[in-house]
Amino acid sequence: MNFKEYMQEKKTYIDQRLRELLQPETPEFASLYEAMNYSLLAGGKRLRPILFLAVLEVLGKDAQPYLDLACALECVHTYSLIHDDLPCMDNDDLRRGKPTNHVVYGAGLATLAGDGLLTFAFELMARQKHLDAAKLNRCIAVFAKAAGPAGMVGGQAYDLACEGHASIGLSGLKLLHHAKTGIIFKAAIELAAILGDATAEEQQMLSDYAVHMGLTFQITDDILDFTGDEKTLGKPIGSDERNDKATYVTLFSLPEAQRLADEAAQAAAAAIEPMGDRAWFLRDLVLSMLTRVQ
Ligand code: IPE
Ligand code: IPE
Ligand code: MG
Ligand code: MG
Ligand code: MG
Repeated sequence: MNFKEYMQEKKTYIDQRLRELLQPETPEFASLYEAMNYSLLAGGKRLRPILFLAVLEVLGKDAQPYLDLACALECVHTYSLIHDDLPCMDNDDLRRGKPTNHVVYGAGLATLAGDGLLTFAFELMARQKHLDAAKLNRCIAVFAKAAGPAGMVGGQAYDLACEGHASIGLSGLKLLHHAKTGIIFKAAIELAAILGDATAEEQQMLSDYAVHMGLTFQITDDILDFTGDEKTLGKPIGSDERNDKATYVTLFSLPEAQRLADEAAQAAAAAIEPMGDRAWFLRDLVLSMLTRVQ
């Protein structure tokens, strides 16, 4: 199977399950579920759940028992996008090729759709009774910490604080990108390492890969905000400049951002090189980020 086929197969598998997950038990709550499903099922590359399942497979596990955990990762990611787009945050009106959640449902319901997806993700994780309880418990703790105030929420708050301040420097930018974006990728990989019984050596390699890969991804996100095509990307171009955000492009330059993305991708690939052929997908994934258009 080649890279494209692997991505497509996993995406289809995840999408199928996501479509089943959120059904209202109380008819009066139907519009909330509609708003949650609107963003969750709007498309999206499903990178975090694919990465999670891929690492499990690298470690010799079958993906099937872990599909709902993969979906939980996507629920949290989708919540972060809904909130990120709100008028009080980045104020964007296009996401995954469709009007943003608040444009369709209003800011109140969009906020609640995000809350609902976040909380539901942890309910879904806790429901996986067929998994080893101690490992599942560790996974929930790791993921909650990564998504919460010490992780992604902290990163998003720092992103707001950095608006208009171009003086955070490279170390500030690295922190910002790691916290708002990289940490969720890293958590997806760490969860797979826990469930896949990774050795200490494998854990270290995967964790190094995750840090460099997350950085590669967010630098290319910054680049695409300048060079991307809105239709292909499915979200607005120029949002960062309009909001005076601190990004690799606004603080450095386009060529410098590209160079730093290349450097991060090479570092990610080097981290997993000792794993050999079984890590082929992880290598291809990070290298594909350098030329991504969506
Ligand atoms: C966008 O993530 C938000 C960031 C963390 C930069 P993705 O580019 O993975 O968005 P989807 O899930 O494919 O829509
Ligand atoms: C968002 O970063 C990160 C999270 C949603 C946690 P951005 O604000 O750069 O993401 P996009 O460009 O809107 O997708
Ligand atoms: Mg943002
Ligand atoms: Mg944004
Ligand atoms: Mg962006």
